[in-house]
Amino acid sequence: MISKCIFPVAGYGTRFLPATKSQPKEMLPIVNKPLVQYGVEEAMEAGLTDIGFVTGRGKRAIADHFDISYELEHQIQGTGKEAYLDTIREVIDKCTFTYTRQNEMKGLGHAILTAKKMVGEQAFGVILADDLCICEEDEGVMAQMVRLYKQFRCSIVAVMEVPSDEIYRYGVIAGESIKDDLYRVSDMVEKPEPKDAPSNLAIIGRYILTPDIFEIIERTPPGANGEMQITDALLTQAREGAVMAYKFHGKRFDCGSVDGFVEATNYVYEHSYKKNGK
Ligand code: UTP
Repeated sequence: MISKCIFPVAGYGTRFLPATKSQPKEMLPIVNKPLVQYGVEEAMEAGLTDIGFVTGRGKRAIADHFDISYELEHQIQGTGKEAYLDTIREVIDKCTFTYTRQNEMKGLGHAILTAKKMVGEQAFGVILADDLCICEEDEGVMAQMVRLYKQFRCSIVAVMEVPSDEIYRYGVIAGESIKDDLYRVSDMVEKPEPKDAPSNLAIIGRYILTPDIFEIIERTPPGANGEMQITDALLTQAREGAVMAYKFHGKRFDCGSVDGFVEATNYVYEHSYKKNGK
């Protein structure tokens, strides 16, 4: 019913230069696993096993990561080191991977539009891998959202409460509370001044979108900087009452920033790697 998850990974990752000069930001490791693998594992847990990457130049390492490495695997076969590959092997066995290129960086809305042919006529998930979400007491965020999609059959955005001095970095929603942690969205403002923010609920990098979004993106004019923002297209759906915002359970780290990346590394090291060795 919903099986596809799109990963827009075409960005330059300039905040991590020079590390990202010749390797994708999404391949930077949080402890011993690349950022993008956490995202794909989250999609897989939610049952979204058709993975579509919207890539750009210099991102080939992502495709190599989600493929067999014959030489390496032959070398470590039968040794204790084989277990290091368990998590990636499971992902490769259970998921299929498709790639398309966004040849110009024209914003997240444009990146998602680039995936139109990959997606077809179904609802689909979108994960921004640089938002790392960890849920120790519930399913992953995408699985939580799929549960809601089955009930409401409309677009869903994940939101979290952010302090007012950080609100200018996010898309912010206004909405009516439907039940615990769930809102029907009536308005959205991209990167507001704190005084103009309609709430403290900011959109993070997890979406479930219904396929009419493509046609809406196509007819939504680009913003002031020439970029197509997904928020602008979502606003059209929201005005038809067709977008829910879900205050997800779990922790989110902004791994697109150096501070968030270091925080995530420390957290994963303490809460996962040190305990389980993975
Ligand atoms: P960001 O703007 O945070 O990522 O976009 P960036 O451009 O890679 O980072 P900096 O600011 O230069 O350090 C959020 C996500 O959307 C994707 C990015 O790859 C990132 O995962 N994106 C954004 C695209 O795929 N295409 C776009 O045109 C814009």
